[in-house]
Amino acid sequence: MALRDPGTTPVVNILVLHGPNLNLLGARETDVYGTATLATINGDMALLARELGVEVTIRQSNVEGELVDWIQQARGRHDALVINPGAYTHTSIALRDAVAGVGIPTVEVHLSNLYRREEFRRHSYIAGVAIGQISGFGADSYPLGLRAAVAHLRAQQTSAQNSRNEPEEGARRQ
Ligand code: DQA
Repeated sequence: MALRDPGTTPVVNILVLHGPNLNLLGARETDVYGTATLATINGDMALLARELGVEVTIRQSNVEGELVDWIQQARGRHDALVINPGAYTHTSIALRDAVAGVGIPTVEVHLSNLYRREEFRRHSYIAGVAIGQISGFGADSYPLGLRAAVAHLRAQQTSAQNSRNEPEEGARRQ
């Protein structure tokens, strides 16, 4: 887990980004995306974050460049990114480059199952630079994504602690 404030208890802050048209959730193609609104999803994420002992910062934008700016600014501020890039999933090399550029562990989430829909939704520019992708669980994809990000950070922290506790190669032989 990245320790952004050495000397104090590490505060883990996860950035949650929603891409274009996700502000319309609850009213938009409810047969595909369900009836939960973005406000409900965000409220549930905040509650889950408290339960998991982490902080979340949640933002939505319909503007590709704004999402790129937020991803760039995440370096040093956020430990992981949970992102539903919406339609930019299938079009945006800029978002992929931003994720790759900041090197923050990223979980890609989608409400719908991309692989059961139109052919053009089957390709994600983000998947190749993400830890993994959660797709098809409706509004539950978000809490699953948050849990995956936290589990990843905790596993990283455990392996960093284990390697600090391991005796040096030379010391082991003596
Ligand atoms: C989506 C899937 C995308 O293909 C679509 O453009 C969206 C939502 C999802 O959450 O299922 O806007 O990302």
